[in-house]
Amino acid sequence: MSAEITIYRNEKIKKLGDLYGLFFEDINHAADGGLYAEMIQNRSFEFDPVDRKDYHSLTAWEKVEENSSKIILQVNEEHPLNPMNRHYLSMHVEKSGLAGIRNLGFNQGIVIRKDAEYSFSLFARTEGISSTGTLIIRLEDDMHTIFAERVLTIDGTEWRKYHTELNSNSDCSEARLVLLWKEEGEYAIDMVSLFPKDTYKGRENGLRKDIATLLADMKPKFMRFPGGCLVHDGTLCDTDRTSVYRWKRTLGSIEERVTWRSNWNYNQTLGLGYYEYFCFCEDIGAEPLPVLPGGFNPHKEYAVPLDQLQPWVDDALDLIEFANGDVTTKWGAKRAELGHKEPFGLKYIGIGNEEIGEAFYERYPYFHKAIREKYPEIKIINTSGPFVSGEGYETGWKSARKYGSDLVDEHYYQSPEWFLANMHHYDDYDSAGPKVFLGEYASWGNTYYNALVEAAYMTHLEKAPAVELACYAPMLCNVDYVNWKPDMIWFNQKQVYGTPNYYVQKLFMNHQGNDLLRTERKDMDETVSLMDNKPITGKVILAGNDITGTAWDIVITNPDTGEQKSYDEIQIQEDNKRNFIDTIEWNHYIIEMKFIRHTGRKGMNLYFGETDEKNSARWEFGGWDNFDSIITTTINGRNSCISHRIFKVETEKEYQICLEIENRKIRAYTNGELYNETEFRLPELEELYITSSYEEESGDTILKAVNLMGEDKKAGIKIEGLKDELKKVHVYEMAGFPLDAENSFDHPTAVAPKEREFEVHGTSFDYVFPGHSVTVLRIMN
Ligand code: AHR
Repeated sequence: MSAEITIYRNEKIKKLGDLYGLFFEDINHAADGGLYAEMIQNRSFEFDPVDRKDYHSLTAWEKVEENSSKIILQVNEEHPLNPMNRHYLSMHVEKSGLAGIRNLGFNQGIVIRKDAEYSFSLFARTEGISSTGTLIIRLEDDMHTIFAERVLTIDGTEWRKYHTELNSNSDCSEARLVLLWKEEGEYAIDMVSLFPKDTYKGRENGLRKDIATLLADMKPKFMRFPGGCLVHDGTLCDTDRTSVYRWKRTLGSIEERVTWRSNWNYNQTLGLGYYEYFCFCEDIGAEPLPVLPGGFNPHKEYAVPLDQLQPWVDDALDLIEFANGDVTTKWGAKRAELGHKEPFGLKYIGIGNEEIGEAFYERYPYFHKAIREKYPEIKIINTSGPFVSGEGYETGWKSARKYGSDLVDEHYYQSPEWFLANMHHYDDYDSAGPKVFLGEYASWGNTYYNALVEAAYMTHLEKAPAVELACYAPMLCNVDYVNWKPDMIWFNQKQVYGTPNYYVQKLFMNHQGNDLLRTERKDMDETVSLMDNKPITGKVILAGNDITGTAWDIVITNPDTGEQKSYDEIQIQEDNKRNFIDTIEWNHYIIEMKFIRHTGRKGMNLYFGETDEKNSARWEFGGWDNFDSIITTTINGRNSCISHRIFKVETEKEYQICLEIENRKIRAYTNGELYNETEFRLPELEELYITSSYEEESGDTILKAVNLMGEDKKAGIKIEGLKDELKKVHVYEMAGFPLDAENSFDHPTAVAPKEREFEVHGTSFDYVFPGHSVTVLRIMN
């Protein structure tokens, strides 16, 4: 019998709405040195060791003394440009000649193109006795080849903005912006800025066209911003340099925006602020989806006292007014003043990003109630933390159900094997309750294999009744400033490329459709297990996690037979040595011990079921930064968290540890209390992953199919409920690539879809889905 797929064109079973979108966070220099087109690094001399240990106010700047000239540089604060922009550079030219400074830009330097125009500006004034000064502005390389030059006369002792345009006469990938004073004297400068004129959609203070175009090409339905942990990491005082992200401080002229430490270990200029995010969303046709902090920093456990929470709640209400209010409202007027009279049409707002912890869920209802009362039409998104299951996850969902959140923001980064084992994760989520916003997810890696697995998972996301929004994360990464891997798009100052994961996301966004259609499959229900579905057995190993401690009274029992083995006490040293305990082959066993941490900040790792170095499970007791009790699985060297609970190990406190393994079920108890309960599921392959939808604008029927098997799969495809005969099928297909293939600057589209068309007649046709492929068929009639 040959396989058959029948698509019921008139049976629309789920609105796909805004399903596929983007996640934006300024991580990996995604904004500064990335999408935000500013070419000058540390443009206002605000860099500081608070942002990053090796930063200082002249980071990325170098002194220039040509023709035996002499200049003294000093970063001052006495007469700042404005209270937000406190530092500026005083330059004392002691000996005439050409003396000044140069900026190195980001990565290896400023990338300029022949005949391209650049917009230069700075604030400047004279100091001391000088009343004017001649400032030469150049783009040049290290060998002093000059590509562009302009001269400005700086006049007067008050700060003034100067602006000029530079046209480059050549290409250069490692240029510097050089500022040179012609005469002796004392001068001050601040906010030195250089933008390409050709930003995305020509906006001032705009975005890098190549990166923005790659994003726009995806046709995302929404964009979440500004993070990520960036949203909640920091102090609770918004005037602190290390404050959590407060949107109101990101508006207005760029020289008046505060400068902030980013939790990703660099400085954020906030030049790409909330107004710019909204404009970008509008430019690419994506619904804006801002996420606000909920008055709680989960990393440091700082919580805004409840009686001081109102300004935080007001931030949320004011943001909605800023986006949607008419110009007679305070924040609507602010939007108009910034240049956008028409509302942005905000539909979604997120409160909290992974802030699991009682303090967050205590504060969430204040936001929820205030937003619901004033703006009932806005969809409110709650959060369920950084893991796919466990106590925090459950608490997030419980809170969402209790208060009636519209969606719950879920995050997880897992091995491809986890995705293969959990394709049906959302099948039984109740679609009558809060919906799923899968706000961050990725499989570990940027290979074709990762992309294929993600594509298969997306077919299930599309079909799951409760899943409403989903976005891959993180989105952007500057190759020289990596905080997190994998990422969807990689760039330097010169080039940008999409990973195979990008092309999968793009295919699914470009061909999302408006309604999911009922699809039936015949003779293609085979499931292939990739691993033996046997109980979790193997080595049991105990290791410290940067601590010293003692484990004693170690016993392993088979509760079914009563057999029991006892082991010697283990002294845990700081080198995290793995102490082998035993190899256990029982189907059901309980590992028990007493444990004390003597020194150090974290806890210990109890490995079990280890068959080799790349395949095991472990209980992280006081994991990450001593924040968690986690069950982690490792398959083929790639980790997945399968259960999580917030937990801290205390020094010199005795813990009774108990880990029960029953076939593939895992239960972890601390001092008699059940901390983690989960199942270690194994990867399997479905014969073909398919989903079909209808697109109103074109009238096309869309079939997406992912073949994870190595062999081609032939299927008859039939469209039921058509008025007219079929005419043609447009194919977009990724196939024929090795599973470990990746894209690169040299081969940016090595893995990318190819297109073709074929004619069809009647209401059915045959199609061969190549082994290891992602196929989108646009079926036209
Ligand atoms: O996407 C990278 C980080 O992962 C995000 O900042 C955070 O929300 C998540 O834990």
